[in-house]
Amino acid sequence: MEQTNRIILCVDDEREILSALQRSLRQKADRILTATSGEEGLALLEEHAPGVIVSDMRMPGMNGAEFLNRVLEFAPHTFRILLTGHADMDAAISAINKGEIHRYLHKPWDADELGHAIEQGFERHQLIQANLALTDSLSEKNQELEELNMTLEQKVVERTEQLLHSERLSVLGRLAAGIVHEVMTPLTISVGWVETVSKSPNITEDQQNSLSIATEQIFRAASIMESMRDFSRKKHPIKTPTDANKLIGHALDLLIHPLKQKNISISRSFEANERINVDGEQITQVLLNLINNAIDALDSGGRITLSTRVVGTAQSARSVQVTVKDNGSGIAPDLVQQIFEPFFSTKGSKGTGLGLSICKGIIDNHGGSIDLESRLGQGTTFTLTLPVES
Ligand SMILES: Nc1ncnc2c1ncn2[C@@H]1O[C@H](COP(=O)(O)OP(=O)(O)OP(=O)(O)O)[C@@H](O)[C@H]1O
Ligand SMILES: [Mg+2]
Repeated sequence: MEQTNRIILCVDDEREILSALQRSLRQKADRILTATSGEEGLALLEEHAPGVIVSDMRMPGMNGAEFLNRVLEFAPHTFRILLTGHADMDAAISAINKGEIHRYLHKPWDADELGHAIEQGFERHQLIQANLALTDSLSEKNQELEELNMTLEQKVVERTEQLLHSERLSVLGRLAAGIVHEVMTPLTISVGWVETVSKSPNITEDQQNSLSIATEQIFRAASIMESMRDFSRKKHPIKTPTDANKLIGHALDLLIHPLKQKNISISRSFEANERINVDGEQITQVLLNLINNAIDALDSGGRITLSTRVVGTAQSARSVQVTVKDNGSGIAPDLVQQIFEPFFSTKGSKGTGLGLSICKGIIDNHGGSIDLESRLGQGTTFTLTLPVES
């Protein structure tokens, strides 16, 4: 147990009594403070926090019982001893009954008796202090425990959600692979037959038109199947050191027609001068999906900004950030959670809703991240973060 300083405060209006007390108690304390009135005593109490107080009963102004009553109020753990004359018995008993004092001694006091009371006082005071310190550290620990429990609970919930999510994705993936496999064969056969029929000599123009609509729709179904295949495959990336700026240039080349058709202008800010370790084909596919989404979100005359930059200082933590920013429709805040879900689309029959879930799968497989910021009516920025080649 930590020993605090043993300080006694003696209060009496007569200086001789104070001197006698000091002499008598010298062996019992590290420090003895004296005050000639209750008021002075209270000031010393606040400054020095004594463990034991010995106070005379009869004093002008505040008497001993009143003084110790104030002590009880301000420093309830201080051990309080009252010195009384015979005439003050009633006051002393009433003070004891009210819990204002722990002990009373008659004047003139017996040195041993007073010494014993002081010892008892310090012992009690120290026990209380130790108890308070323990209670404090216990409640601190309890609070820490509570906080730990809360984070643990939160972590369990998050992890469970992640597991459920990936389980759902893998079931969907297997289902999608099965569907693609089964549907591709009849589609291929149908295309063959449509072609054969369209080549027959005595076919009318109307019939020819109908056949080309049929072909178009079959190809559309085939392209949906291809997206589903990409989604279900989760191909393992074959990584090579790659220039992200070049990949963007390549993706833009592939999209030149839809960009022109919608009169969309392109801004580039290529600052990344380090290569990333990625599967170039897969990252191009991600860029195509993101730029296509941006085109869909834009009205004619809109703008897409593509930028790259290196972030992070420590070599091991360096990444290239690629952003695809549009000033199009934006995404409603309540939809942001869902847009990476497979088959979530707001484009009706024009979208499969697989684009972003494929992107996310590819980026996750690369140990990177995909984030977005969007404001309804103002535009959207997707940011890919990919580790640089090490
Ligand atoms: N840049 C963007 N601006 C506004 N909304 C976007 C943007 N990118 C994605 N979205 C929203 O996210 C949804 C999901 O996108 P995702 O690419 O996964 O599917 P999709 O574009 O609808 O269909 P798919 O890509 O398969 O043709 C979109 O339908 C659209 O509502
Ligand atoms: Mg898309």
